[in-house]
Amino acid sequence: MRAVQIRRFGDPSGLEVTEVPDAMAGPGQVVIAVETIGVGGVDAVIRRGTLGGFGFREGLIPGSEVAGVVEAVGEGVDGGWIGRRVWGFTGTGGAYAERAVARLDDITALPAGLSAVDAVAVGSSAPVARFALAHAHFSAGESVLVRGAAGSIGIAAVELAATAGASTVAVTTSSTERGRRLQKLGATLVLDRNGEAPADAETDAAASDFDVVIDIVGGPELPGFLDQLAPNGRLVSVGVVAGMPPADFGMRLLQSFQRSRSFATFSLDTVPIADRNTARAELLAATARGELHAVVHDVLSLTAAADAHRAMDRGEVFGRIVLTTEP
Ligand SMILES: NC(=O)c1ccc[n+]([C@@H]2O[C@H](COP(=O)([O-])OP(=O)(O)OC[C@H]3O[C@@H](n4cnc5c(N)ncnc54)[C@H](OP(=O)(O)O)[C@@H]3O)[C@@H](O)[C@H]2O)c1
Repeated sequence: MRAVQIRRFGDPSGLEVTEVPDAMAGPGQVVIAVETIGVGGVDAVIRRGTLGGFGFREGLIPGSEVAGVVEAVGEGVDGGWIGRRVWGFTGTGGAYAERAVARLDDITALPAGLSAVDAVAVGSSAPVARFALAHAHFSAGESVLVRGAAGSIGIAAVELAATAGASTVAVTTSSTERGRRLQKLGATLVLDRNGEAPADAETDAAASDFDVVIDIVGGPELPGFLDQLAPNGRLVSVGVVAGMPPADFGMRLLQSFQRSRSFATFSLDTVPIADRNTARAELLAATARGELHAVVHDVLSLTAAADAHRAMDRGEVFGRIVLTTEP
């Protein structure tokens, strides 16, 4: 089968299309004939080689989410799955290929009417957004800031917070055009990457204190966003696309002790698998009904995986890039 491998860690030219042996299902696993692959920010982090300590080796097939049709099942898996259209999580690699292996626990049947392209735009990101909001104890009537809202997790957080009755849905983003697109998805206040209203802001409201901050960015500016928490406000760190925050970031919480602010991390890995799968099925169904939007930046051939990574490295991607195995 055709697959893309990381032949050299570093820039996207290290991604090469190769022929590899067909994927085989082990016990409790299925083989998916892949139609589409969601290209995630974490794929680029792995490709750059910055996660060397986590045991990634050259030759890795990157990617973690696919949609397609179950082609074969391993021992212990009901043969009734064969022929069904599914979304599948493949772990920290294995998705950029014509066939991919997933555990039965990590597949979700696609609802009727949902395209394979849309499935990989929301299949992993929307559950992260939903459970991150729950981890922040968000409730209707509270104000929310989504920091780093232009990626697929942020977009889902914006839509879910807006539909769940947030009083304000603020976003940070790097351009007016992205701000406009986020407003169409439910954002009510557009801020720049520093959390300030840009000079050419089209909204009247000034930046204020937020009950909840969903933070996908991290990095050196994170402490400033702890300062934007209202009394009893909660910041949940979901990603670190700008790197780790300064080691002493917690000082900001202690310095504002009398405001009872909180900081938490959140990983989907800590959500029980049954809850994750139930939520994913609901969110895929909501997408099929048009209640949640799959924002697809571009659809490229599997063989153009390096181009997808170049676009990510240039910071151009709004939503998700999807690869397709179709010629
Ligand atoms: N917690 C979990 O369970 C979980 C699960 C999966 C992934 N993740 C993590 O989530 C992150 C990826 O999420 P994603 O794909 O939605 O994000 P993304 O698309 O990689 O980035 C989101 C947005 O952040 C902004 N941004 C990028 N670099 C920035 C910088 N240096 N400073 C400020 N803003 C910056 C960009 O928007 P603008 O240009 O508009 O500012 C970008 O569109 C990764 O850290 C990944 O490890 C977490």
